[in-house]
Amino acid sequence: MALQNNNPTKTAAWQKLTNHYPKVKDLHLKTLFNNNENRKEEFTINFNDFEFDYSKNRITKETIDTLVELANEVDLKGAMDAYFTGEKINVTENRAVFHTALRSQSNEDLFVDGENITPEIKGALAKIESFTNKVVSGDWKGYTNKSITDVVNIGIGGSDLGPDMVVESLKYYNNHLNVHFVSNIDGDHVQEVIKTLNPETTLFVIVSKTFTTQETLTNATTIKKWFLQNASNEDVAKHFVAVSTNLDSVRNFGIAADNIFPMWDWVGGRFSLWSAVGLSISLAVGYNNFKDLLVGAFDMDEHFKNTPFEKNAPVILSLIGIWYTNFFEAESEAILPYSQYLSKLAPYLQQAIMESNGKSVDRNGDRVDYQTGNIIWGAPGSNSQHAFMQLLHQGTKLIPADFIGFKESLYGDQDHHNKLMANFYAQTQALAEGKTKEEAHLDLKTQGKIDAIESLLPYKVFEGNKPSTSILIDKLTPKSLGSLISFYEHKIFVQGIIWNIYSYDQFGVELGKELANKFLKKQ
Ligand code: F6P
Repeated sequence: MALQNNNPTKTAAWQKLTNHYPKVKDLHLKTLFNNNENRKEEFTINFNDFEFDYSKNRITKETIDTLVELANEVDLKGAMDAYFTGEKINVTENRAVFHTALRSQSNEDLFVDGENITPEIKGALAKIESFTNKVVSGDWKGYTNKSITDVVNIGIGGSDLGPDMVVESLKYYNNHLNVHFVSNIDGDHVQEVIKTLNPETTLFVIVSKTFTTQETLTNATTIKKWFLQNASNEDVAKHFVAVSTNLDSVRNFGIAADNIFPMWDWVGGRFSLWSAVGLSISLAVGYNNFKDLLVGAFDMDEHFKNTPFEKNAPVILSLIGIWYTNFFEAESEAILPYSQYLSKLAPYLQQAIMESNGKSVDRNGDRVDYQTGNIIWGAPGSNSQHAFMQLLHQGTKLIPADFIGFKESLYGDQDHHNKLMANFYAQTQALAEGKTKEEAHLDLKTQGKIDAIESLLPYKVFEGNKPSTSILIDKLTPKSLGSLISFYEHKIFVQGIIWNIYSYDQFGVELGKELANKFLKKQ
């Protein structure tokens, strides 16, 4: 069944939201909390070890009900059915969008174009598992019969950002292998990575869905040349593997047939870390942890698929995002994980979200007359508090923020963790409540700054009413990380459906590539 094709602004629910907005826009979060002592419980969704607390958003029950009406009116349910059954909802590329199949733990077979894809997925997982075990155990030997110590992932965009982010996020679970990432076509980047490496003990994983990407092919060629300074062509098979859909080009590059891991055109690059594109993840943390990552993602898929919209975390938080973008005219969203491990989450989500929903043409081929995809940015707290949080607290822009925190730290240093989480809670409260003139006045008085009260007072006031969502998770594990990533993937899907755009192509990046080739020919 094709996706419905509706200008969302012409729906009855949008009209209701337009009428509702003036009633809500000036309501202060402080008042909303004062008027309802159960607000936190009423606006929280618990799922496994996740708590999605969206109570500090500028919404009322009526807002949520009307946003859910919008979701129903654009047939989100029908779109979800198409998404989870491998229909070709990536219409402009005539492809299914089936990354959820890669992590399915169900016994049901899954089909694309009438072909059962389950055996291929299982086969690829088995290959990842056996290869990982050989490399991690030291049984896989390099050309001088030494075991592998270092792995270099050569890829860019979706063939880099996802694996890099997960390897960084799961550093605590890392085995003895050092995993490096080369992405930029900047030759200095390549040299900085290889200068410390021993070719005898390094494994190179070339990841490119198309195997045509200039950056990846240039970097792989440079690295292969460097490798061949000491080794021979026959040795390449012990040190180079590839992940791609383009088998001919991979073979032409000189990769042995056994060293090729599959990719499929029904998986978008930016959603591919669950496939063999995640091979470097499996190598870094071992196959069982990689498997847990998939299980966590599957759990979130099931929650998304089977939970009524009112209690469905990806749906509700997507709808709240629409509310800010299209009614409050917010232009960006901040991702603020209170964990240094998640320092690469925002850059990863920048590609996932902005490459997907940075679109201005709707599913009719017409230019949209409303806002779509947001600007995504962010960095871990508490660092961000000493960098850009000033603008969120007292600047002129409305920037809804996702705070992501963990109840437990991994090394168990309670003192540090208490301080980290005190900052997490303090930020969301400060953003929501702010500080009134009276409170600021009292502070200055208490500090003995009586003479300065009049001149300083305006600067010491915080308006508050700045929205945030708190995603509180028990602990950073492969499983919880899988659920978190899957949550954001579904958010992309829901928002794309409502905005009536095609989220799964990325034609916008092509023009720059074409022009770069023209410039290169002129040089
Ligand atoms: O930047 C455009 C893009 O096509 C991304 O969507 C993709 O993740 C990246 O390039 C890399 O592509 P490939 O895996 O084919 O090398």
